Amino acid sequence: MAGMMILSTRILKELQAFYVEKVGMELYEVHEDLVVLRHDNLLVGLRPSSSSDSASGTLHLWVPSPQEVDQRYSMLKPYARGVPEWSTSPRAYGFTAQDPEGRALIIQYQPGVHFPFFMSDRLLVTRRSIREFTEDPVPDDLLWKIFELSRFAPTSRNSQSYTYWVIRDRGLLDYLGQIRKESDPISRAPMAIAITADPQKSKRYEQDAVIAAYHLMLAAWTFGLGTCWIAAMNRPDVKEALGIPMDHYVATVTPLGFPKFVPEAPPRRPAEAMVRFVNAKK
Ligand SMILES: Cc1cc2nc3c(=O)[nH]c(=O)nc-3n(C[C@H](O)[C@H](O)[C@H](O)COP(=O)(O)O)c2cc1C
Repeated sequence: MAGMMILSTRILKELQAFYVEKVGMELYEVHEDLVVLRHDNLLVGLRPSSSSDSASGTLHLWVPSPQEVDQRYSMLKPYARGVPEWSTSPRAYGFTAQDPEGRALIIQYQPGVHFPFFMSDRLLVTRRSIREFTEDPVPDDLLWKIFELSRFAPTSRNSQSYTYWVIRDRGLLDYLGQIRKESDPISRAPMAIAITADPQKSKRYEQDAVIAAYHLMLAAWTFGLGTCWIAAMNRPDVKEALGIPMDHYVATVTPLGFPKFVPEAPPRRPAEAMVRFVNAKK
């Protein structure tokens, strides 16, 4: 969080309820003279004021999928100035609403907005396996931003034994989808990345590849791009199709693209169920 914008308000309680209950912002901190709300990596402070010029400005919130625009619209319908729609320049999907003091509030999904959507806690909690994608291509500059983050993956003895193989060819994507026996998110995506490691470069090449793959998946979600770990596939066929040396290890081939929608998180066991504190044996 690099900073916070402050809104002065004459109706603190009402405005707080609006932004938390209708807009879906998180109540982040409550102080005597300041209420702090959070939308992903944006902090908004509400400060009581009696000033009559307090309600100016526009709050513009980006969300990571068109589906999330629709969800927020369903909560904000009575405050909306129109229905969600696509605009062409910039290509974006969203709507404008008005808060109870008359400020404009824009809720928008904009594929290719190249900034991090999430703070690290929300990044880890909201990442989902994405199996349906919009048709928007992933721009090269965004792809390179992802690789710039991914290359900081830890590797055994810093061997950096992994390679990211970028697949955009539609015929190859369809082929990779077909050679799987189960559902096929790869052929529904605009592109895919195969993550491999070279046994000549590391003794722990399999672990290097798996970590590098998950690093890429988190880096992608930082920018609102979806991935899905694909486990079951005929790896020799994948290597043959992509020109990957046969002795290299293929961790996964993940589809990559802008999510058509982001599913609910499948249920998780509570943290306590996954943790054992270990004492020395007596
Ligand atoms: C080792 C592993 C194998 C997986 N294999 C597949 C797969 O072959 N196809 C698929 O659609 N999802 C696959 N997944 C995704 C899981 O189904 C998913 O992570 C899990 O249901 C939790 O959902 P979430 O990732 O949205 O939190 C795999 C995940 C892991 C870690």
